Amino acid sequence: MNEKKNIVLIGFMGCGKSKTSRELATRCARRRYSTDKMIQRKEGMTIPEIFRLKGEAYFRRVEKDVVAKVAVRKNAIIDCGGGVAVDPENMAHLKKNGVVFYLKASPKCLFENIKAGKPRPLMQVADPLAKIKELLRLREKHYRKADHVIDANFKTIPDIADQIESLIAL
Ligand code: S3P
Repeated sequence: MNEKKNIVLIGFMGCGKSKTSRELATRCARRRYSTDKMIQRKEGMTIPEIFRLKGEAYFRRVEKDVVAKVAVRKNAIIDCGGGVAVDPENMAHLKKNGVVFYLKASPKCLFENIKAGKPRPLMQVADPLAKIKELLRLREKHYRKADHVIDANFKTIPDIADQIESLIAL
């Protein structure tokens, strides 16, 4: 027994999901999963390579398979790619065994983090800040289906993890 619900992190690229999941994993004995890492392992390619060689629609199909698999786990920390929450079936799977946290940040904060982070196929555009604003406007209603909204705007990773820890037993 002693099974705990999964901790699921969703939100836009650059909001701090991966780093926060790592921080949470150092604070408890839960296993950590990243949908993007699982996709890369499954396909034997990086995310940019999958987008380039197979296209976004293919990526979303693999992502959906991976989400369905990981969502049945228990006691896990799951950090999701930024587009996972857009598919209502993904969210239904994740909510079944998990408590979902939306790490919310402003376009400016996301832009700064994205600039400093890994390559993201959807951000290879002339005006990434405008793209962030546009995608965020389309996605916000999906992210808001989370059980909790966490303030990740220019917050440190320990601060974000503290907010989550104050809402759920790790
Ligand atoms: C995506 C976010 C990425 C990755 C892919 C698509 C998105 O993950 O899944 O590039 O649609 O927002 P991160 O949120 O970890 O950057």
